[in-house]
Amino acid sequence: MGAMSDVAIRRARPEDLADLTEIYNHYVIHTAITFDVEPYTPETRKPWLEQFADAGRHQLFVAQSAGRVIGYAGSMRFRPKAAYETSVETTIYLRPDHTARGLGGRLYARLFEAIRGEDVHRMYAGITQPNDASNKLHARLGFREVGRYGEVGRKLGRYWDVLWMERNV
Ligand SMILES: CC(C)(COP(=O)(O)OP(=O)(O)OC[C@H]1O[C@@H](n2cnc3c(N)ncnc32)[C@H](O)[C@@H]1OP(=O)(O)O)[C@@H](O)C(=O)NCCC(=O)NCCS
Repeated sequence: MGAMSDVAIRRARPEDLADLTEIYNHYVIHTAITFDVEPYTPETRKPWLEQFADAGRHQLFVAQSAGRVIGYAGSMRFRPKAAYETSVETTIYLRPDHTARGLGGRLYARLFEAIRGEDVHRMYAGITQPNDASNKLHARLGFREVGRYGEVGRKLGRYWDVLWMERNV
């Protein structure tokens, strides 16, 4: 792998769909980091990608190296009811061989810059425990702990806690 200087952060594009699906599926299949349990195809993942736009509350950025996407960070609707619209839930996933090099912080910085001028007031991250890298990344970037849902999901034969964190936009 090249140095981090070879990594470009840019807005996600429709043609990133296959890479984005592949990255996510790794965590769907092998971990409880996400509570999705069935892997996606690019076709079934397309509605997820289409929720993001070039402006507004819901935006998606990718890290690209050597012509392929190696990670992404985005902001999504938090809950469906109308008054929640000023809150977003963030999502961030790197290819497993590109973690622990500061890339998560670079992706989030770009996302935060993009939504700062938008009508968003709070962002939320739900982190299945344990996940030291994610806990530390979010704390370092100004997320505060809200609370921990105990055994809120069941996957891979056991129950998992989720730590919720909150950040001012
Ligand atoms: C979570 C994730 C986005 C963090 O991004 P990253 O680029 O790997 O994070 P960083 O390199 O900036 O590391 C963040 C912190 O965690 C630490 N860390 C990194 N990997 C770690 C590991 N495996 N175990 C413990 N600590 C770890 C780093 O030392 C750093 O600590 P610091 O803030 O005190 O310096 C990334 O690791 C990832 O995609 N993981 C798999 C998917 C995932 O968990 N997504 C988040 C779901 S909520």
